[in-house]
This record gives sequence, C-alpha cells and structure tokens, in this order.
Amino acid sequence: MPIAETPEVMTTQRKLYIESYGCAMNFSDSEIIASIMGEHGFATTQDEFDADVIFLNTCAIRDNAEQRIRERLKHLRSNKKQNRDLIIGVLGCMAERLKDKLLEEEKLVDVVAGPDSYRELPKLVAEVDDGGRAINVLLSREETYGDLNPVRLNTNGVSAFISIMRGCDNMCSFCVVPFTRGRERSRDPQSIVHEAKELEAAGYKEITLLGQNVDSYLWFGGGPKKEFKTLTEEEKAMSVDFANLLEMTALAVPGMRIRYSTSHPRDITEKVVLTMAKYDNICNYIHLPAQSGSSRVLEAMNRNYSREWYMDKITMIRNILPDCGVTSDIISGFCTETEEEHLETLSLMEWSQFDYSYMYKYSERPGTPAAKKFTDDVSEETKSRRLQEIIVLQNAISKAKHHAYIGKVVEVLIESESKRSSEEWKGRNDQNIVTVFPKGNYQKGDFVKVLVESATTTTLQGKAVG
Ligand code: SAH
Ligand code: SF4
Ligand code: F3S
Repeated sequence: MPIAETPEVMTTQRKLYIESYGCAMNFSDSEIIASIMGEHGFATTQDEFDADVIFLNTCAIRDNAEQRIRERLKHLRSNKKQNRDLIIGVLGCMAERLKDKLLEEEKLVDVVAGPDSYRELPKLVAEVDDGGRAINVLLSREETYGDLNPVRLNTNGVSAFISIMRGCDNMCSFCVVPFTRGRERSRDPQSIVHEAKELEAAGYKEITLLGQNVDSYLWFGGGPKKEFKTLTEEEKAMSVDFANLLEMTALAVPGMRIRYSTSHPRDITEKVVLTMAKYDNICNYIHLPAQSGSSRVLEAMNRNYSREWYMDKITMIRNILPDCGVTSDIISGFCTETEEEHLETLSLMEWSQFDYSYMYKYSERPGTPAAKKFTDDVSEETKSRRLQEIIVLQNAISKAKHHAYIGKVVEVLIESESKRSSEEWKGRNDQNIVTVFPKGNYQKGDFVKVLVESATTTTLQGKAVG
C-alpha cells in the first residue's frame, strides 16, 4: 500500500501579532488595526512566533520611547531569520515622525504606516507580498475610523477604551503629537454611543472616552475642528460638545462606569464638571496635566494658561466634586527652567494634592516649536535631580491621600486577579485608585463595596463589605 501523503491543511487565515506602545489612544488604535486586518482575513495571535505579520504600533513622545522600539526591532531580526516571509510593520507616531527614513534606517522594516492610513494596511501588506516595501504616512483632516468595530485586544473583558476624537491642534511647544497625529477632529457621537452599547451588551462594565484634549470635542457634522462661535446656525443646532457627549453616554449605558482622558486645563469647563456631578455612573476622576507650576515656563511651553488659572480650575473642580480624584503630568527641566521655577512646580503639586502624577524629564523632539525656539539648556543631571524631587514629593502626597481612605468604604469594579496573590481581586475605586481585597464569592466585573483597611503609595487594601 502506498504511503498516503498527509494532505496539507490549507488555511487562508494569516496571523497578525500587534504590539502597542505609548498612550491609551495608541492601544485603542491597535484595536482598529485588528478590525481592519480582520476584515481582510488576518486573525490576531498572542504569539509573535506564530505570526505572518508583526506590527509595532509605536510612540514618539520622548526619545526613550523611540529607543525602545529600535531595540525591539533588533530582536525581531531573529524572527525574520526563522520565517523569511515574515512581514514587519512600524505603525503609529514614530512611523509618522520618521516616515521613509525608517525604511532607510531599519532595513528589516517592510511596512511604514501613520495613524491616519490604517485602512490602507491590507493593501500595504499586499504590496510587500508582491516583493516591495510599502509606506503610507498621509495625515487626514476627516478620518476618525468611527464606522469600524474595534477588535478588543488583551482585554480583561471589563473595561474598554473608546476614541472620541483624533489629532491635536494645540501646539504645546514640547510636544510631537500635533505632528504625528495631525489636525484635531471629533467623531460622530452616535457612533460613540453605539460602541458603548455594544460593549455593554458584550458584558463590559467600564468605558474610557479618549482624546488628547477631550474638552475641545465638538461634533457639528464632521471634518476638521472649528470653534463653536464659527459654526453656521445649522451646525450649531446639531452640535454636541464634550459635556453633551458625556451626558449622552451616561444615559445610554447607565449600568456602566464612564471615565475619560485627557482634560486640558485651558479648556475644561464647569459644564463638564457639573455633568460629572449629575450622573453617578461618571467617575469622579480627572486627569488634568499641569506640566509645570511656573507661569513663565507654562508660557514657554505654549500651554495657554498660568499657574493661577490652573489653581482656579482645581478650585472649581473641588467645589463641585469635593471627593474627585485629580492626577497630573509633570515635566522636569524644560528649556530655560530655573531652580525657582522648579520650586514653583513642587509648590503647585503640594497645593493641588494630586492623587498621582506621571512625571518625566524633558526630552527634546526634533521639529517641535521648543526644539526650534529654545536650547535644551537644563543639564541631564539637573533634570534628573529635579525629577527625583518631584517623584519623592508626589509619592509622599499619594501616600497621605491613600491613607486618608482608611476606614472608608469605596466602590470597586473588579478587573482581574491581583498580581501579588491569586486569593485577591484587583480593581479601581471611583477615583481610579487601585484597590485589592480577598476574593470571597465575588466575580470579575462585579461592583463591590470595600472597607479600606490599609494603604500604600500605589494601592488601597481592604475587605468586601457587600
Ligand atoms: N494631550 C495630553 C498629553 C499627551 S502626551 C495633554 O495635553 O495633557 C502625555 C504627556 O507626555 C504630556 O502630558 C507631557 O507631560 C509628556 N510629554 C510630552 N512631550 C514630552 C517631551 N517632549 N518630553 C517630556 N515629556 C513629554
Ligand atoms: Fe501634546 Fe499639548 Fe496636544 Fe497634549 S494638548 S497632545 S501636550 S500638543
Ligand atoms: Fe500617544 Fe505617543 Fe503618539 S503618547 S499620541 S503614541 S507619540
């Protein structure tokens, strides 16, 4: 009997592995990428060695973010040795910043695609299949991917991101985002509400509405950002601002928690904070990056607000929502920052009592207004020392703020098992503070009242009380 040859299993599904870097918007974009590629026959895999296509969805915000990607690309050389047909793509902000330079510098990269060209990805991959290398870094004034159904990646099944806008028109002098993500545009609110409802139907319990400057969200029919006062009467009649959008979402999915990020101190309005106060399901949490405590530095940063303006906004928030969690971003050693100005940052932090801050050393980004206008003149040593002082102060504030929760009952949405113990759940309270407690009979996705018994710089610990 002839030995039968094992018939080759013909699978048309190719596999895509996506790795995401940077901010939540980039992680959210990866879900759009997975959706677009899914419609063209690509299934996502969690195993990079199983992949036919590897996409790195990159960040360019600081130099070290880009160095990480370069290191990762070096490692991917061996994947390519093992699988000669493997296609490697660099997507996102670093792709947009470096454009074709990336193909010249990193010989193993086959595809370069910027944040507004993801609908073209299947075509770009097909070009590589045909033996070429492919690039599309065109930025759009309209694209919001609003009609797409994101494929949830690495999800805990409890919380999900929804992008409500793209790009940024702000031109903070240190920032590369306006160059990598293009002009600001808002997404159709109906598609946002629809996505929230679909997440609810799929069992999700929390959504975070995402934009670089959510307070400037304004729907008037689509297209590049306009100020409200410049809208036609017809556009005004159909317009939806961020407070309206928050309200629409809160009403559409009353059983879900709603968060959002990022607010801009210049643009945050009382109307938004009052809307938060009106709806229980909108979390009492605002990420309001100060960047610096010195009005002179803020002006050099082109942030369009002063120290006093920032303090007024914090006061407004605390008057309306006394128990609101507030977090910040701080940059140490921006060009020309003096020691006194650094001390002003520390005193603003002290005054504001942030629950947490994301703290960075200034990293000059080529082509930004700051790189053109100023010299990066604060030494590395001084930047590091100032950053250290900022971190030490923030840790002390976080610890004290968390200790103040001891003896109080907080509501926690269970997200996953605690990393430290398989006997404990981990979730967040209303103010976005990580809270850990023994599992009992509770399940992932439950809202649980937890009595806080102890606290650290990063976490609350307690026990369920119903
Ligand atoms: N849209 C948000 C910020 C997005 S970038 C906002 O306006 O607040 C996230 C944070 O990275 C910024 O808030 C800032 O603190 C930091 N950042 C941006 N560019 C930087 C740079 N060149 N060097 C150091 N930190 C930077
Ligand atoms: Fe960058 Fe400023 Fe836009 Fe934030 S608001 S993304 S810091 S330019
Ligand atoms: Fe986000 Fe980094 Fe781009 S922070 S917008 S991924 S530069």
